[in-house]
Amino acid sequence: MTDTVRVELGPRSYDILIGPGLIARAGGILAGALPGRRIVPVTDEAVARFHLEPLLRGLRDAGVTPQGEPVVLPAGERTKSFAQFENLLEELLGRGIDRSTLLLALGGGVVGDLAGFAAATALRGIDFVQVPTTLLSQVDSSVGGKTGINSRHGKNLVGAFHQPRLVLADTAALDTLPPRELLAGYAEVVKYGLIDDPAFFGWLEDNGRHLIDGDAAARTAAIRASCAAKARIVGADERESAERALLNLGHTFGHALEAAAGYDGTLLHGEAVAIGMVLAFRLSARLGLCAAEDEARVARHLRSVGLPHRLADVPEAMRVPEELLAHMGKDKKTRQGSLTFVLARGIGRSFVAKDVDPEAVLRMLRDGDPA
Ligand code: GLY
Repeated sequence: MTDTVRVELGPRSYDILIGPGLIARAGGILAGALPGRRIVPVTDEAVARFHLEPLLRGLRDAGVTPQGEPVVLPAGERTKSFAQFENLLEELLGRGIDRSTLLLALGGGVVGDLAGFAAATALRGIDFVQVPTTLLSQVDSSVGGKTGINSRHGKNLVGAFHQPRLVLADTAALDTLPPRELLAGYAEVVKYGLIDDPAFFGWLEDNGRHLIDGDAAARTAAIRASCAAKARIVGADERESAERALLNLGHTFGHALEAAAGYDGTLLHGEAVAIGMVLAFRLSARLGLCAAEDEARVARHLRSVGLPHRLADVPEAMRVPEELLAHMGKDKKTRQGSLTFVLARGIGRSFVAKDVDPEAVLRMLRDGDPA
């Protein structure tokens, strides 16, 4: 069974298909939806092991001829680099791609972001489709058209908005995901409940555990709700001039923790976001915007599924208050020195707060976790 969520962006609108078996069926779906294209699959070594063969078989069966061998990149965040971007572009241009070429990004956020950016820039823009294989990429990075690479000055600082033509989220691919990665992706699912959907957060309190343990129906329902939430926000504010910033709930703190960890794998993005969301609610409570019980409820749910939810969950060297604040100052969402956070008036009542007093943030970080 396949669910469809539509991202409404006028002439750049597209569907997100969600369900099991979509990787094997991608060939047939693409032959129908985007006929006559020459396809270049781009993936990484870890994903290729599980998912490349079924994809290629599906393409062959549907009579779709790939334009050369699939491009298989090294796995890991370091692949989102200028060097790999250059390699990929030169490889594509060396194959004689033209405007009818369709890049197919098979993998998690790293592959999707890099291949998407290559698609945005090759020949001033060619089409691409996202076939996300991690929970994080299925509910967040594959949807909405943010593409890019990292710079030595920070993550995702070089990139472009370039919407995919189609997203195929194969829920069965999640079965091959390391449990820690699945859990980290779950933090982004929780985020949608906390932004503006308290009923979804309540549903996750009841069903989150089942979803993590492999309940296929719960997974599909959560991914559909997450994609629908993201599609709604992106449809209203594609280029993040207003409410798209809500998707950064937990990310200002989270990025600071990731930067303090040196992106060395100590802390996965979703794990950092989980702690960051609790801190966003804590700051909101300390500023008198929401009840302390809201923070406690968020933390309780994250703890119940096994996600980190306290500053104390990261090594001491990674939570030096002054250093975290300095990292927040470098975040690309920080404009002219003032701190922008997503804060909350309650569960599902988030809003973008500009000009947050850095002293209040520092005091909170110095005080540490509540007893
Ligand atoms: N991941 C945040 C966004 O797509 O805007």
